[in-house]
Amino acid sequence: MSVPVGLQSVPRAPGAVPLLGHALALWRDPLTFMTSLRQHGDLVQVGLGTMPMIVVTSAELVHEVTVKQARSFEKGRFFDRLRPLAGNGLANSDGELHRQHRRMIQPMFSKERIADYSKIMSRNARELVDSWTPGQVVDLEQAMAKYAIDTLASTMFSTEIGLPAVEAIRKNLPTLLKNLLIRAASPKFLDRFPIRANRDFDTASKALRAVIDEVVAGARRSGHTDNKGDLLSLLLSAQDADSGKSLSDVEVRDELSTILFAGAETTAAMLAWTFHELASHPKAEKQVVAEIQEVVGDRPVTIADVPRLEGIRRVLDEVLRLHGVTLLMRRTTEPVVLGGVEMPAGTEVAFSLYALHRDPALYANPEAFDPDRWLPARRGDIAREAYVPFGAGNRKCIGDQYVWTEATIAIATVLARWELTPLPGHTPKEVASAVAHADRIPMTVKQRHV
Ligand code: HEM
Repeated sequence: MSVPVGLQSVPRAPGAVPLLGHALALWRDPLTFMTSLRQHGDLVQVGLGTMPMIVVTSAELVHEVTVKQARSFEKGRFFDRLRPLAGNGLANSDGELHRQHRRMIQPMFSKERIADYSKIMSRNARELVDSWTPGQVVDLEQAMAKYAIDTLASTMFSTEIGLPAVEAIRKNLPTLLKNLLIRAASPKFLDRFPIRANRDFDTASKALRAVIDEVVAGARRSGHTDNKGDLLSLLLSAQDADSGKSLSDVEVRDELSTILFAGAETTAAMLAWTFHELASHPKAEKQVVAEIQEVVGDRPVTIADVPRLEGIRRVLDEVLRLHGVTLLMRRTTEPVVLGGVEMPAGTEVAFSLYALHRDPALYANPEAFDPDRWLPARRGDIAREAYVPFGAGNRKCIGDQYVWTEATIAIATVLARWELTPLPGHTPKEVASAVAHADRIPMTVKQRHV
């Protein structure tokens, strides 16, 4: 076995500028920047101001970080920056606290719960398609953001208690998401400056936390603490089987904020891109529509339909491959050897699922939208570690089954009723925040006749 080398032998990405390092490149165009790094090696050094960050670009080493050596990593700087919004919620906490909370929250995403939530998802999707009129131009990016937030909010809060929170979420979440990446990619010395991204982020997260605090306190006052089937009452009544611990009001608020932050934009972007990709690939769209007509017809979509809509699943897999999570971070908690390089405790490590999923070493024709690559006969060509839209290991997304159900129901409900035609002359642009979402996806809706 070869002797590990030190961090100084990891190649530095070109283009660093004094004081800011690569922060400007990351702010300006994080998707291009992150995708460009693999040409320099499996490990590449990037500077955020004076802080070095090691970017991991290969599927094998991302697997080492997230699964094989996960015990030697905690969440890194990206997640520190999230703390004003999400405190020590599930995405931010580490070690025993994370294990304990994950155990307590997992039942909220059980098969039975998702089956309950699916009724709300289907109802919300029908309300959405009922609200459109033939010939109307709908911005799918906005419509899906509203659908994702409304659906999260109505599964979190089953009663009117949650209404102020839903409003605050609609108002503040876009500002938070817009500024999050800039915040995470800023050199530390900028923390002290009242730059706009920091100010806007702090104001919006304060507002959101205050409203959720009020909702949690109101729920306690009104005895909404028995298990009523919504996330809020589940969190308020959750008890860890091993330690007997229940969650404090602050912990409940942090978990609610985390789920909102983690589940809203990601889902909205995936749905909006799906409509765009299908409209741009008529053959795939035709197959999906035929499948919906065969499996569902014109009745409401139910949970039982979801596994039978296999074509939608392949389209969603392909959308998540192409439009994935921009940047994730970890920090070593002890010395680690990764890819033959010895990293001391405290080393910041980053990786981009977006860049990984477009690696030509992992995917044939990686830039092409090709849902058929997920057909059983071809799926085997793709290594397991190469496709991780929900991450892997102990920090894997807790909402993956929730989102498959929600997205399948939404796509089937919309396409059963409406034909969507892109507005001529408009090409959606990618905007990187937590995921690469589209700026606008304006489409004209026309009643579908079967
Ligand atoms: C298409 C939609 C989604 C995508 C692409 C996505 C992606 C991810 C990824 C990649 C991670 C791992 C982060 C890391 O390793 O650092 C994650 C974690 C997480 N996600 Fe999702 N997510 C989606 C939807 C949701 C939804 C709908 C919810 C909640 C209802 C949710 C809740 C969470 C939570 C709480 C975590 C932290 C888990 C932990 O650390 O234990 N996500 N998500």
